[in-house]
Amino acid sequence: MGIIFEKCGNGEESYFLLNTPSSSYIISLLKDGIVSHSGWGRRIEKWSGNSSIWKIDRGVNLPPDLDPRNLSLDTLPQEYGTAGKSDFRPCAIEAALKDGTNTLDLRYFSHQIIGGKPPLKGMPATYTLNDGEVQTLALKLKDTVYDIYVTLFYAVWAERDVICRWVQVENKTADKIKLEKVMSACIDFASSDFRMLQMSGAWGRERKVYIRDLVPGTQGIESRRGSSSHHQNPFVALLSKDASEDSGEVFGFNFVYSGNFEARIDVDYTESARFSMGINPYNFSWNLEAGGAFVAPEVVMVYSKDGLGQMSRTFHDLYRERLCRGEWKNKPRPIVINNWEATYFDFNEKKLCELADAAKAAGVEMFVLDDGWFGNRFDDRRALGDWFVNTQKLKGGLSYIASEMKKRGLGFGLWVEPEMVSPESELYKAHPDWCIHIPGREMYLARTQLMLDLSRKEVTDYLFETLSAVFASAEISYIKWDFNRYMTDVHSDALDSEHQQEVAHRYVLGLYSLLERLTAKFPHILFESCASGGGRFDPGILYYMPQIWTSDNTDALSRISIQAGTTLVYPPSAMSCHVSAVPNHQTARITPLAQRAFTAMAGTYGYELDMTKLSKDEIAQIAEYSELYKKIRTVVQYGSFYRLVSPWEKSDKVEKYAAWMNVAEDKSFAVVTVSWVYAEALAPKIVLRLKGLDENAAYKDTKTGKIYSAKELMYYGLLFANMWAGSASEQILLERV
Ligand code: DGJ
Repeated sequence: MGIIFEKCGNGEESYFLLNTPSSSYIISLLKDGIVSHSGWGRRIEKWSGNSSIWKIDRGVNLPPDLDPRNLSLDTLPQEYGTAGKSDFRPCAIEAALKDGTNTLDLRYFSHQIIGGKPPLKGMPATYTLNDGEVQTLALKLKDTVYDIYVTLFYAVWAERDVICRWVQVENKTADKIKLEKVMSACIDFASSDFRMLQMSGAWGRERKVYIRDLVPGTQGIESRRGSSSHHQNPFVALLSKDASEDSGEVFGFNFVYSGNFEARIDVDYTESARFSMGINPYNFSWNLEAGGAFVAPEVVMVYSKDGLGQMSRTFHDLYRERLCRGEWKNKPRPIVINNWEATYFDFNEKKLCELADAAKAAGVEMFVLDDGWFGNRFDDRRALGDWFVNTQKLKGGLSYIASEMKKRGLGFGLWVEPEMVSPESELYKAHPDWCIHIPGREMYLARTQLMLDLSRKEVTDYLFETLSAVFASAEISYIKWDFNRYMTDVHSDALDSEHQQEVAHRYVLGLYSLLERLTAKFPHILFESCASGGGRFDPGILYYMPQIWTSDNTDALSRISIQAGTTLVYPPSAMSCHVSAVPNHQTARITPLAQRAFTAMAGTYGYELDMTKLSKDEIAQIAEYSELYKKIRTVVQYGSFYRLVSPWEKSDKVEKYAAWMNVAEDKSFAVVTVSWVYAEALAPKIVLRLKGLDENAAYKDTKTGKIYSAKELMYYGLLFANMWAGSASEQILLERV
């Protein structure tokens, strides 16, 4: 049973024990309905009482407001801290109440243990296929004065070390309240003996992993940019001090949300650590009318007792199997040619067909037409919003291009950036009030464009109709959905001043509703998300679009680092990767083709270069890589992922090379990839101990025919040498015999 509710061993208190296969999460009900967090860690079968409550009666900051005098909320680990009473730590919820105060005192009211996982209306979330997969605890708290109810939800997975949390606030008073902060999860860890891991960066260098010790005070990450952002991924992990790739405890948190977020860890004077994650309180409030309810999005919490590697695999399996949806969820993803780095805005139908011919010869399966096909779009300064084909560039329109691709045996995909409008566009002329802007203030034009106000129903309705017409206008089987600026001047003309701080969240909800409708209407389309590369790489987006353009930086060496961070949480099937030209357009670096190909094969694979300029030999070489990818793609996209060198451990190795493995679900096949990241003369040999194989089996190297026992490969390792001089990368395929 996943959830147990019973009396503690001490006979006085009760507790909830939330058990996954390897972990336990414990919530205690103390006297007067105080709900206390008692621990999260290795699985136990019983809880005997709250040994973690620090009973002390010293100092001015411990108000003895409870009986006995030595129990203070300030030192008590809480399940959901509130403002205004004797807990001075940053709270999980804050609301402006009728009396003008923000004090809430939440106590146990009732609870329900539900089979299955209730959906979060209008929001992305993990889901089950049958109720036996999850048990959900709905723990309802009530304020001691007002009829304000806060329900904490915990979905406990039976076969995965995952607990998902979210929160619902109900206002059953006769008056409106204003929510100013509603965190989706809050946990008081008894100790701060952890390291915090975050993934930070910028455009072109997304999701670099940083690890630091916790110190007293606040440490955290956030986005105020209207999307989850290139700068901070909505992910944090707490690592035990001894945690490494394959051992030690890791607690991972990922926010299923694509807008402004905050994740913070506050270490207090007792050296306990309060973790919280949710919608960023910055520029956020929500008017909760009498009788109304507000739901805060889901946080996925993963426990691993076996280091970061196991944490990654738990996230990967969950997201692939129970977050991604639709026809493409389990389908092998096609090899793509995208014309962006091949042509930028300079193309016509002839050029596209020539590119398609070359790509076809190179083994490509899907042609994706990027930016520049519509309106007056000859550069990036105009025409967003005008989603009608530019027949000056493309004679015959989209249906002609699609049919040309079909003739060549290629699928056809199309780029759109629906959330935006250019001031120079028909759409802007018709609806100047449909963009996010503050009347009377100069508009900030990032990439000469404005964001449409997706908080307005008429805007999402318009987009639904317009995009439906485009998607149905030709045989389109792939959509690349781009998003190329952040949100500023946050204001909606459709809302009064009381509601302006709701705009950023309403925007995200509007986006989700639009995506829900479009993905339901066009189930055969493979949707790929993009936000100037990886500016919105989050689980909220993955719920609607099963793959995401990882970064605009296509340089192989940069990608090794970006992809390492990305796969820390997100599955390889979600990570779109292309081979591009050298010198690379973002870094000017020259890397061997093999290195570019093997690096891109770590995710969903494709090309983004002008293949018409390649020689016959080069095309033949690329065709071989395409064939190789077709052979390994099921294992890469749907197998288990192992890092053979931990990219984050401080060691000589890490600076020199990267290595990873993909193993088929049934362990019958494995792909090992090694890549030098630092060029050296007479580079030393690399010996890699493999992981995840069937220990009692033998495996054949498909190239050399040599057979090894799995134990040899895993305990003694495989030698890679003399790679730098040639390809800088090597890939070995192993087949179980
Ligand atoms: C940004 C994307 O990340 C690129 O791949 C490309 O689609 C451009 N936008 C087009 O404007």
